[in-house]
Amino acid sequence: MTPFMTLLAALGCALIAGIFLGFSNFVMPALARLRPAHAVRAMQSINVVVLNRWFLGVLLGTALACVGLALNALGAWSEPGAWLRFAGSCSYLVGTVWVTKRYHVPRNETLARLPAESAEAEHFWPRYVASWSAWNHVRGAAAFVAAALLILALLGVSGCHSRLHPIAPPGSNTPVERLSELGIFHGDLARQIPRTGFVEYVVNAPLYADGARKRRFVYVPPGSHIQTNGDYWQLPVGSYLVKTFSFPRDLRNPALGEQLVETRFLVRTEDGFSPATYVWNEAQTDARSSRGGLDIPVSWFDERGVRRQQAFHVPSAAQCAGCHAGRALGFRTRQLDHVAEYADGTRDQLAHFSALRLIDRLPPAHAVLVDPNGDAPIDVRARSYLDANCSHCHGRGGSAERTDLFWDLEHTTPSEMPSCRPTRSVDGRDRVLVPGHPEQSEFLARMLAEDARIHMPRGPSTLADQSGISLLSAWVAALPARSCDP
Ligand code: HEC
Ligand code: HEC
Repeated sequence: MTPFMTLLAALGCALIAGIFLGFSNFVMPALARLRPAHAVRAMQSINVVVLNRWFLGVLLGTALACVGLALNALGAWSEPGAWLRFAGSCSYLVGTVWVTKRYHVPRNETLARLPAESAEAEHFWPRYVASWSAWNHVRGAAAFVAAALLILALLGVSGCHSRLHPIAPPGSNTPVERLSELGIFHGDLARQIPRTGFVEYVVNAPLYADGARKRRFVYVPPGSHIQTNGDYWQLPVGSYLVKTFSFPRDLRNPALGEQLVETRFLVRTEDGFSPATYVWNEAQTDARSSRGGLDIPVSWFDERGVRRQQAFHVPSAAQCAGCHAGRALGFRTRQLDHVAEYADGTRDQLAHFSALRLIDRLPPAHAVLVDPNGDAPIDVRARSYLDANCSHCHGRGGSAERTDLFWDLEHTTPSEMPSCRPTRSVDGRDRVLVPGHPEQSEFLARMLAEDARIHMPRGPSTLADQSGISLLSAWVAALPARSCDP
């Protein structure tokens, strides 16, 4: 819908810019050469004829499209090109529509009241031409700028991070198009058997991704180590973090295997982390570098044998940056301090990393997340879920920091949680969290919402996580009940 609206608005702005160019360039200069009485009569006639449904339709129809685009961009600011659509729409609404209403309409009304042959008309005309034309240059230029910005938005030019690029294998500088050429897995690629140096790891509380399963790997260049001085770790340049998304083909029969969709990377370079993604082919023999921002159809059978279909969204570069903001999100103390099952038995993951010399020393004691579906008390499971699924945006340094609403472990204690915090109403609920009352808590309404503009978590995932929502509802219901009425 948005691309179509953007196209309509861009065409409208360009048409209006062309019309006003005509006035600035030859209509007004031509009238200025006539005797004032003739010129006034001609202009009065133009001002009557111009009020026809075609001209007004384009002028105001474009304004409507721009209002829609601007609101839509504000509601989905992290979408690629949102700021271009917003700036383009505002340029037209303020520079063209508002200027017309403020400067041209009143002058035209005054002119219409003067008899063309009168002395007043002769006196008024030179001032009218000068100021009308000057403001006409302004509104024409604003419409032209608006058309240019909207066209850039359509072309997908939204800043420096607009596209994802292929990456190079460890130790090389030449980016490769195919996952197989990266040489990080050996044998049958789809089985993801890591080559020496790549270590599989697990996180305590995974991010919900429309039901996808994930496998994760880390690589550190030989001879270097990761520094673990706090919750976030310092990875040496040349490190790789890898995450593959897949969907089981049939939940009743694991032997049928899974459909691999995407393998994402964060490669540590001199300038921070460079994101990349490789999308798997249908035959599951290889994956190709993708620029992001596309949908992949996936289908599977659920526990009851019902065939499920959905579109899995491969994020755009802007979306990667919106969540990651230059950091690894799962590769940190609170997510990795974990006792994990390995093929050869149960092990402490941090001790394992240390034995492999991946990390220079064990990180200092830190709060850790737990498995939201595990058997820990509900309070810590719910808060771990919020930390893992919301705090990369709603946390310090996150893209929703300006909401001042934080969902990390530290901000969901009884004294810090956003109890009774007023908010824009969703579904009639106008408090973010009402202890004891999930049905009045707006954050749960947002998690259930289908409208992408209010759905939380914002981003590539759009399907409500039913099990996460049940957990959070049970958590809110179990909090000591409180009324938020004044
Ligand atoms: C909705 C927010 C979100 C978006 C969008 C997103 N990520 Fe992530 N990503 C996360 C979170 C949270 C984790 C850690 C939890 C997990 O792995 O389940 C993570 C983990 C990863 C990891 C494993 C290393 C780590 O940070 O723990 C890689 C690699 C990765 N993401 C790459 C990408 C790339 C590349 C993109 C864009 C194509 C992307 N991500 C888009 C939130 C996001
Ligand atoms: C990809 C970034 C991102 C993620 C992930 C995310 N949010 Fe948000 N959230 C935003 C942005 C941006 C806003 C402000 C715009 C708006 O209100 O829609 C927001 C606003 C909100 C608000 C309204 C804030 C207010 O001031 O009243 C709530 C409540 C909320 N988010 C809850 C959540 C919850 C719960 C999660 C996790 C399940 C979550 N969000 C995950 C980006 C995110």
